Amino acid sequence: MAKIIAGIGCSHVPAVGAASDHGKTEDGYWTPLFAALPAARKWIKDLAPDVLILVYNDHASAFSLELIPTFAIGVAQWFENADEGYGRRQIPNVEGHPELAWHITESCILDGFDLTIANKMDVDHGCSVPLTVFFGEPAAWPVKVIPICVNVIQYPPPTARRCYDLGKAIRKAVEEYDGELKVAIAGTGGMSHQLQGERSGVINTEFDVNYLDNLRDNNDVNRDRSHLEYIREAGSEGIELVMWQIMRGAMNEKVVEKFRKYHVASSNTAFGVICFENAPEEKSAAEIKAMKEPVLVEYANALGITAHVNDLKKDTLEKVLSKLGYS
Ligand SMILES: [Fe+2]
Repeated sequence: MAKIIAGIGCSHVPAVGAASDHGKTEDGYWTPLFAALPAARKWIKDLAPDVLILVYNDHASAFSLELIPTFAIGVAQWFENADEGYGRRQIPNVEGHPELAWHITESCILDGFDLTIANKMDVDHGCSVPLTVFFGEPAAWPVKVIPICVNVIQYPPPTARRCYDLGKAIRKAVEEYDGELKVAIAGTGGMSHQLQGERSGVINTEFDVNYLDNLRDNNDVNRDRSHLEYIREAGSEGIELVMWQIMRGAMNEKVVEKFRKYHVASSNTAFGVICFENAPEEKSAAEIKAMKEPVLVEYANALGITAHVNDLKKDTLEKVLSKLGYS
């Protein structure tokens, strides 16, 4: 079966893509953001997912205001980078995974999520900037991508709760797929920002940091917020954070945080990246003590403890038992 091995929350600020494309990642303004990314890039490289389900919103690139799907899934073999008014980014096009995408489509629709099927869909910065954040500037993206578009442009967007539940349906579909695939899922957009009106430029760091903390430990708070709360706290474009809920719904209730970067300001937004792996199943102290060393080391690492097979087994065991409150 296929398995979801990682969850990512990531802003998709267009200026981040432009900074990368134009060699400005070390120009002072962008340095603090890009200097933090190698650790996230190493994390995903080590995980080596076969497929990345990338949730984002289209910004009037593939869809105009004439046609606004609430959820659209790309089932094509290839997706071209959109021209957003200043030419197509000179980065690789995005290769899809039609077989898994069609499987997810069928499974989700039968489960009550009526996804719009996109056989052709240019992808804009919502999709390409997170790829740049995680993979830099390769000749080809090292992962196949299933793009899922969410309407957060035209009121009413889906609720955070609906997005979270779609994430659960996507996970079920992935786990029922008849093929060995490692799948990562990214919810993108946000964090707090507003591009228009009296509150243009609003950034709410306290809200953003709480969102990230809650995403890891207490996500019910994020999932149950209304549109009004998101917009009041995070600005009109902060509503994009509902898309992160699709990722969170696809992960275990308990997750381990592997990376976080929060940076203000990036363009006129707060930029956030957070990386999760599913927390391991809970084991009794007796089960842990009975583990052979390589299994114990893997379990320790999954708990967020840095352990190695060359370490003394009793030291690793002690750390694991302590972390779980058994000693
Ligand atoms: Fe967006």
